[in-house]
Amino acid sequence: MARAGASTVAIVGAGAVGATLAYALLMQGAARRVVLHDVNRAKVEAEALDLAHGIQFMPHAQIIGSDDVEACRDADVVVITAGAKQRPGQTRLDLAASTVGLMRTLVPRLTAVAPDAIFLMVTNPVDIVTQAALAISGLPREQLFGSGTVLDTSRLRYRIAQETGIAASNVHAYVVGEHGDSELVLWSSAMIGAVPLLDWSSTHAPLLDEPSRTAIAEEVVTAAYRIIEGKGATNYAVALAAVGIIQAVLRAENRVLPVSTLLTDYVGISDVCLSVPTVVGGDGAQERLLPPMTPSEQAGLRASAEHIRAVGRELGF
Ligand code: LAC
Repeated sequence: MARAGASTVAIVGAGAVGATLAYALLMQGAARRVVLHDVNRAKVEAEALDLAHGIQFMPHAQIIGSDDVEACRDADVVVITAGAKQRPGQTRLDLAASTVGLMRTLVPRLTAVAPDAIFLMVTNPVDIVTQAALAISGLPREQLFGSGTVLDTSRLRYRIAQETGIAASNVHAYVVGEHGDSELVLWSSAMIGAVPLLDWSSTHAPLLDEPSRTAIAEEVVTAAYRIIEGKGATNYAVALAAVGIIQAVLRAENRVLPVSTLLTDYVGISDVCLSVPTVVGGDGAQERLLPPMTPSEQAGLRASAEHIRAVGRELGF
């Protein structure tokens, strides 16, 4: 179902990520109506009011803050950001059990009021949460998917842009797998403009040689830990990544984004949610693309899938 022109986005969870997402959507004029829903009535009403007070300085939109899930009725996109906060030193997977328990309550209530919405999971551990929400809701994998490694890919492109001085919009490189410690960079298919990234060092030595690539990949994987140590949470870049995904849906852009979806026989990987380059448009997560991968990259993706599957098995998915 094409959704171009649809413009109601419901955000579940008015914490740092949810509130920042609401602000980013409004500032970009991405939605005509933004609903912020949270069980904490005082918080969600205050966030909505604080946003509404800036209405004169943003593209026209309606902002609603409510502790009643009914406010999400008939939304075109529902974004779930509610969940436990990742503490310093905690892995995203450490949050799994409590967050899946929350999804068992939340997801049915949301699909009851917005059965035709595209559901975007942002809550961590996002791959496990996406798989759990799919099982709980019974929705097709096109209609419910996770933000996955869209954020990690943005972090990677930022670092490559920093190293090379080339605009991030001309860096085509993907982080795939778990949004977490087992994610990996597909260096072999990365391009800078029309130049294969792996050839970049031959004409721009020593930029992006193997030690540099290893260091960049480590920075990307550990980025969230570093930010959480410093400010307690991450919120800006993950919210902007979610806006990019939402824009691709609402504008039916058919953008290639590494969102987390349920894979079926993808380099032999099935029945687990993780991120690979995927066409995102009006009907949600549409086609999964298969970039050329080295045997080592395929092995890394399979290892990441097993990492997620092991946690899923513990939680009954
Ligand atoms: C991060 C959180 C969103 O990577 O998992 O910043």
